[in-house]
Amino acid sequence: MAPSDDDSDSKPQLSRRAFFKGAGASALSVTLTPSAAGAANASPAVVGPEPSSLTLSINGRTVTVQADPATTLAELLRNHLGMTGTKIGCDRGACSACTVWLDGEVAASCMTLAFDARGRKVTTIEGLAKGDELHPVQRAFVENDAMQCGFCTPGMVMSCAALVDRNPKCTLDDVKQAVSGHLCRCGTYPNVFKATLAAAKGGGKAKGNS
Ligand code: FES
Ligand code: FES
Repeated sequence: MAPSDDDSDSKPQLSRRAFFKGAGASALSVTLTPSAAGAANASPAVVGPEPSSLTLSINGRTVTVQADPATTLAELLRNHLGMTGTKIGCDRGACSACTVWLDGEVAASCMTLAFDARGRKVTTIEGLAKGDELHPVQRAFVENDAMQCGFCTPGMVMSCAALVDRNPKCTLDDVKQAVSGHLCRCGTYPNVFKATLAAAKGGGKAKGNS
C-alpha cells in the first residue's frame, strides 16, 4: 500500500504537510537575515539610459569615450574607436570571432558590456605585437599559412596566444581545446594547430601590452 500522511509505524515520520511548513519557515528565515537584506539593498551604480562617459584601458592606453550603456565591448572597439581588428561574426557568443583579452584572459567581446570592462586591462589583436615585433603566434600563423579569408583569424590568434603565453609546453589537445569555440568556415584548423605548436616550440613570449 502506498504510504499516506497519516501512516504511522515505529519509526519517527515527518508528514508532507509538516515538511512543507518547515521548508517555508526556513526559506523565510533565509530571506530575512540581515546580511541578505543588506545585499539586496546594495544595488550597483546606475548608468544611463543616456550615453555616459566611459574610461577604459585598451592595449596599454587609457581611452575615454561617450557610449550608450548597452554598448558591447566589440561595438565600442569597432564603432567608437575604429579598432576593426576585432571581428563580429554571430554577435551572440557562438563563434569567438570577437575574442579579446580581459586582464590576460580570453573573453567574447560581443558578450561583454563595455561598461563592465572598466577597471580591467583590455587587449585586442592590435595590441598583441610589440611595435614591429609580432607575437610568436602571429608570426607562426603567417609562416604556416593558418588563414584563408582571415575573418576568424584575429579571434583565433588571441586564443592561441593566450594559450602559448600561459603554457609554452602546450600539446595538440591543448590547442584544440583553446580553439574549440572558434568557428572557421574556411576550415583552416590543421594549420592553426600547426602554427600554434610551432609558436610554442619557439618558446612563446611575454604578452603584448596587456
Ligand atoms: S561575434 Fe562574439 S562570439 Fe561570435
Ligand atoms: S579563415 Fe576564413 S573563416 Fe577562418
